[in-house]
Amino acid sequence: MNEYDSEILSGILQNDNYTLTDTPDNADVILLNTCSVRDHAEQKIHSRLGELKHLKTKNPNLKLGVLGCMAQNLKDDILKSKPYVDIVLGPDSYRSILQHLDEEDESVVDTKLLKFEVYEGLFPARKKGINAWISIMRGCNKFCSYCIVPYTRGRERSRNIKSIVEEAHRSVDQGFVEITLLGQNVNSYHYEDQRFHSLLLALTEVKGIKRVRYTSPHPQDVDEDLLKVHADFKPLIANHIHLPLQAGSNTVLQAMNRTYTQKHYLKLVDMIRHYVPDMGITTDVIVGFPGETDADFRETLKVMETVKYDSAYTFKYSPRPHTKAYTMTDDVSEKEKAARLTELIVRQKEHTLYNYRKLIGKEVEILVESESKRSPEELKGRTACNKIVVFPRGTYQAKDLIKRKITDAQGVTLFSRP
Ligand code: 5AD
Ligand code: SF4
Repeated sequence: MNEYDSEILSGILQNDNYTLTDTPDNADVILLNTCSVRDHAEQKIHSRLGELKHLKTKNPNLKLGVLGCMAQNLKDDILKSKPYVDIVLGPDSYRSILQHLDEEDESVVDTKLLKFEVYEGLFPARKKGINAWISIMRGCNKFCSYCIVPYTRGRERSRNIKSIVEEAHRSVDQGFVEITLLGQNVNSYHYEDQRFHSLLLALTEVKGIKRVRYTSPHPQDVDEDLLKVHADFKPLIANHIHLPLQAGSNTVLQAMNRTYTQKHYLKLVDMIRHYVPDMGITTDVIVGFPGETDADFRETLKVMETVKYDSAYTFKYSPRPHTKAYTMTDDVSEKEKAARLTELIVRQKEHTLYNYRKLIGKEVEILVESESKRSPEELKGRTACNKIVVFPRGTYQAKDLIKRKITDAQGVTLFSRP
């Protein structure tokens, strides 16, 4: 989402004759697009700002901006410790960037959350490549008790379906062959009487798109209509779903305000596999939520064992201001959080390899991306179920859709070698 927002900003600036530099030393404007989801993300920005500060003495015209969720979260407080920051802009205020860059004097803080802002009519300056991000909705109404997003990005709003389809056409014209639909809660998309699956259906008619992906859905909003579209349009609608679990214990899920129980979640996974047996399923998991006992944590491992995810993003709980969980005691020690995280990662690696090895001997469709990191003789690409495959260069070109047989699996990579 932040990458897309940066492309929107880059589009606004480049339209006004700004150009990109490849080093901060040459820049007249430096904008840091920030994340507040965990404290660690904010700390990285604090130290990055410290590193950039000296550039302002070298170039007195340099404008330094903090944009996005951290701007929204800290507002004026950023200026208290860092008065040299010129611009603090929340996620709904990017349209005013040019105006603020023209202002000579005082630092400016602009963090109004706007009910309807979806950045319609702006053209993101996309980096060349395979995949174009397209934001289809912004904000979130779910209020998971640990999550700062509803406070930094405001309430849910969806873009006009017609303009999303137009943006998809434009992406194809610009040379992209894959699109990834983005939203904090991507599958709760609704515009007038159109819902998420209707948008996917509309996108299947855009000529030139080889794959459609989306991230991140909420389990509550995954329904049979969506799964039918997956089944009918595989692999154009990629058979991959990121299905954040967060926790396996019902007590913790309830305290997290996740709206489902372990049983519901597992039933949903069964339903997904009923419609699309080879769906790649990935997840997000938090360890050490307030009150999480060892027995609760074992429930998370149990779900992971049952589902066997292809991969998982795993996090230690980080208390965030404004959230409901912030008022709870962060009572799982750092040491215990670290131990749970390690255990979870070890199990996940086994599951990844288990799933990947099952593909050995099978033929898969690969969208060719680029040269493999290890050898110029090999290329890498991605299966529709979102697994990286390395294979001989041959005469393949980036953006080709090819079929190859998998011969090996190591770590998080599949190989197709002679
Ligand atoms: N602490 C740890 N992880 C968090 N996430 C969101 N908020 C927190 C928090 N306070 C994780 C969730 C979410 C992902 C984007 O970040 O797993 O799905
Ligand atoms: Fe945060 Fe929950 Fe909304 Fe996801 S669904 S953005 S975790 S509040």
